[in-house]
Amino acid sequence: MSRKVTVVGAGFVGATTAQRLVEKEIANVVLIDIVEGMPQGKALDMMESAPIEGFKTQLTGTNHYADTKNSDLVVITAGLARKPGMSRDDLLFKNAEIVSAVISECAKYSPKAILLMVTNPLDMMTYLAWKKSGFEAKRVFGMAGALDSARMAYFIAEELGCAPSEVEAMVLGGHGDEMVPVPAHTKVKGKSIPQLLKREKIEAINQRTRDGGAEIVKHLRTGSAFYAPSSSVVRMVRAIFEDKGEVIPSCVYLTGQYGIKDVYCGVPARLGRDGVKEIVEIKLTGEEKAALEQSAAHVRENCAKLSL
Ligand code: APR
Repeated sequence: MSRKVTVVGAGFVGATTAQRLVEKEIANVVLIDIVEGMPQGKALDMMESAPIEGFKTQLTGTNHYADTKNSDLVVITAGLARKPGMSRDDLLFKNAEIVSAVISECAKYSPKAILLMVTNPLDMMTYLAWKKSGFEAKRVFGMAGALDSARMAYFIAEELGCAPSEVEAMVLGGHGDEMVPVPAHTKVKGKSIPQLLKREKIEAINQRTRDGGAEIVKHLRTGSAFYAPSSSVVRMVRAIFEDKGEVIPSCVYLTGQYGIKDVYCGVPARLGRDGVKEIVEIKLTGEEKAALEQSAAHVRENCAKLSL
């Protein structure tokens, strides 16, 4: 295995991502955190599961960026997670400080890497990472749509009583309350959702999807979701390395697509070894297009607060 992935932040999302990546033998992983000993302890614990799980990939825990040198891909999960009652935007300034410091180190040691952002508020942190790294925009993008779509797919499967993997959902926009579920592009075995569910049901699922993260935070009380987020990261990492041109809703830099430019926002993107190969423009209703524009405007407003 010659692929090297660094996961920054060895908390719930980072450690679970590292676990999924090594168990599925997608890459060797370096897990790094600011807390001394913690990534080393988690890495050793996971490696001790290798004789049972049977994976041959290597996981290393560290507090030193030199160990992340020449990574092919860096996943950024460092930062604070939400507590009940907080919006993702409430994390803006604190996480901007953390992400700025982390990105400088990662860019220095892995100048050719793809940066995959997970820290919230996602769209703003992705923009910040792009600015701070100086990397081409196609190598800096974020995980949000993959997660929001997985949540929507699960709710639909629950409603229809089908297998969750049979549902292909599509959620666009920023990773916040203004995200834009797109029912016409959400399908079960080729049939779109409006053919299968009543309008009120679809609207209820859309709203539960928008509130999906908050629903988990409310249950957990002390942190935010990490199982579905780490699965979503791994889906993207796999698509990048497999290079088969899979299209996944991702937080990418728009240069006029969907009539929006100079902002990071969630839209379908074809991913591959070089990062974002293509931004795919699907047909939206007037209402969906307006909602996407509004969501992008919200991201732009918040990015301006970072005065980069
Ligand atoms: N460098 C490296 N790691 C850091 C730094 C830093 N400067 N600052 C904080 N961290 C680490 C923390 O020590 C912690 O281990 O980031 C980790 C974050 O882990 P958790 O608190 O468990 O949070 P988690 O649930 O993993 O969420 C991380 O992902 O989904 C988003 O909103 C979520 O922004 C949050 C991020």
